Amino acid sequence: MKKINIALVGLGFGGAFAPIYKEHPDVGKLILYDADPNVSKRTAEYIGGSDIADSFEAILDDKSVDAVHLVTPIPLHADQTVAVLESGKHCACTVPMATSLDDIRRIVKARRMSGKNYMMMETTLYTYQYFYVKNMLKEGKLGRIQFLRGTHYQDMAQWPDYWMGLPPMWYGTHAIAPMIGLSGSRICRVNCFGSGTMADRLVQRYGNPYPIESALFEFENGLKGEATRSLFETARMYQEGMFVYGSEMSFEWGFGDGDDPYITKLYPPEPGARGGRTETKVTQMPNFYNDLPKELWHFTVGGNYDPLNPQESLKRGAGAGHHGSHAHLVHEFVRSCIEERKPAIDEHLGGNITAAGICAHESAMKNGEAVIVPKF
Ligand SMILES: NC(=O)c1ccc[n+]([C@@H]2O[C@H](COP(=O)([O-])OP(=O)(O)OC[C@H]3O[C@@H](n4cnc5c(N)ncnc54)[C@H](O)[C@@H]3O)[C@@H](O)[C@H]2O)c1
Repeated sequence: MKKINIALVGLGFGGAFAPIYKEHPDVGKLILYDADPNVSKRTAEYIGGSDIADSFEAILDDKSVDAVHLVTPIPLHADQTVAVLESGKHCACTVPMATSLDDIRRIVKARRMSGKNYMMMETTLYTYQYFYVKNMLKEGKLGRIQFLRGTHYQDMAQWPDYWMGLPPMWYGTHAIAPMIGLSGSRICRVNCFGSGTMADRLVQRYGNPYPIESALFEFENGLKGEATRSLFETARMYQEGMFVYGSEMSFEWGFGDGDDPYITKLYPPEPGARGGRTETKVTQMPNFYNDLPKELWHFTVGGNYDPLNPQESLKRGAGAGHHGSHAHLVHEFVRSCIEERKPAIDEHLGGNITAAGICAHESAMKNGEAVIVPKF
């Protein structure tokens, strides 16, 4: 059986993926690299030993490395992705793919020239909630999808510098991706408003005045969806939510990120009654792990990985953060490279998810004017 050698670069949040690659049966060698050597060392200890690279360039020059997974700061994503692809290796990169349309185009071009795989590692497309709704859709339980909604509320005060004042929709991928995945289409147009005010020091870096942005997206197949994203000075409990309204059933995320969702069924009206009856159940989500190799099953349960305390994370069985998605992402990336096929979230889907957010912020800066989302 063919195995591939992987380099994992950026080991803050990225550290959560180290034990998954280490235990994946199709991964030969795992090489770790973080710009901070203490972080590389700590992560290698956390997974019981691993090779550590001296630099990003050393990874690019290493002919034994087949694929690189980038989990580095957002401003580095585009340049590093292009560098990986140009070095002749497959590339997975955490979200967002880039922060400008030109950078998305550069990545699409580098992918095509290299013939290697690009995958955007969007966690919300592999959560157990998303798997559940996909099944509802497949089984026809939703009926016709009438409307979609996505949310991502998170306060980023005191995160690293590059986050400060980031336009909310530049990192709108978690709110946007499930809508695109469920629509069976692509986002082609957006109207977005920014709202609120925030401290001057937050406005300076990106020239973005808004702590929160709300966008209405149009899909090529005519569907519409709304996404709201807050990053600063907005008092709302953390949530990366997905809401789907069908003609027969709907799925609505719980109030907190980990709360069980509300599933509503609409019954046809009784003779003579005004309006159909609805029945809503708070529904516990089953786990989805059958498609994974047995070695990875345990990464679909357990808490979030804490990059500041990997050993404690290990004891808690963490590595399963973001609702069980990490192991699925790793498996899809690794298998797509081995099977020499496109990964599920390739440069076109990743490009649409990311560009929809970039165009949404552009619309917000034009006070809600419609912006066409280009096709890549
Ligand atoms: N659900 C998700 O998909 C999700 C969740 C969290 C973070 N992210 C993404 O993951 C990325 C990292 O997030 P984070 O919270 O760990 O960020 P962070 O800035 O806290 O940490 C990034 C790590 O990368 C290292 N680094 C910086 N420059 C580097 C370089 N040139 N080469 C190698 N390593 C370098 C840093 O030392 C640090 O350990 C971000 O792009 C973020 O958008 C995605």
